[in-house]
Amino acid sequence: MNRIQRIVVTSGPTREWIDPVRYISNASSGKMGYSIAKEFVMQGREVIYIHGGTDHQYSNLTGAKNIKIETTIQLRDMVIESITNDTLLVMAAAPADFRPIMIAEHKIKKEKSENSMEKKGLLLELEENPDILKQVSSFVQENNISNVIRVGFAAETEKLDAFAKEKLNRKGLQFIVGNYVGRSTGFGEVTSSLNVYNAQGLMKVIGPGSKDLLAQDLVKFLELNISGLTLEPQNKIPN
Ligand code: CTP
Repeated sequence: MNRIQRIVVTSGPTREWIDPVRYISNASSGKMGYSIAKEFVMQGREVIYIHGGTDHQYSNLTGAKNIKIETTIQLRDMVIESITNDTLLVMAAAPADFRPIMIAEHKIKKEKSENSMEKKGLLLELEENPDILKQVSSFVQENNISNVIRVGFAAETEKLDAFAKEKLNRKGLQFIVGNYVGRSTGFGEVTSSLNVYNAQGLMKVIGPGSKDLLAQDLVKFLELNISGLTLEPQNKIPN
């Protein structure tokens, strides 16, 4: 058995506030992350469940340490704080990639135009959020933290194999779990399947099945495949 002591699972969308009542987010429900974390709890693992604005039923996991975050930067900070030697990180969260360059102190009002036919609109300036997995990979390397196994997700609408492999390399991951998403596939309570890749390529297709079944099989797969894996901090990641 691998000496992994702690499982950190992230779940759900992050929120980036525009003004006190509006935010940018995405359609992630948090179900996949929740189901994976629950499965690890059932295996008797120590689980830290870090979640964003998930659907209500995925916001508290019995048997895990629950941490609620809002923004991508808060998620990054909590993930880094939760990582020690011998941690498995499963990044199922869907962090917002961009945030407004500033948050308006008051609710933004529609500008009144003298000519009511004239459309005014609103221009929002956004800046890029940090890539959490990439920063975790650098953090682990720079701080000599050993045996931190990183699992990412790639939810794609096209070219799954190519994008998943590219993300695994760019983010310095040991595994990436790919699936197809669209308006009616991949989000919430739907049946789909997962492709698991490592640096050598496609390792396993899980499903099709419900997210609960996919999570069960993914956790079985990870428990099996981390057993032969012991990572030292010097596993290089690309700059
Ligand atoms: N992820 C992350 N930090 C971010 C965005 C995403 O760590 N700022 C993680 C996700 O939790 C997921 C993996 O990276 O495990 C892939 O997320 P995805 O949104 O598909 O990748 P991006 O890097 O945002 O790439 P792109 O927007 O080009 O698809």
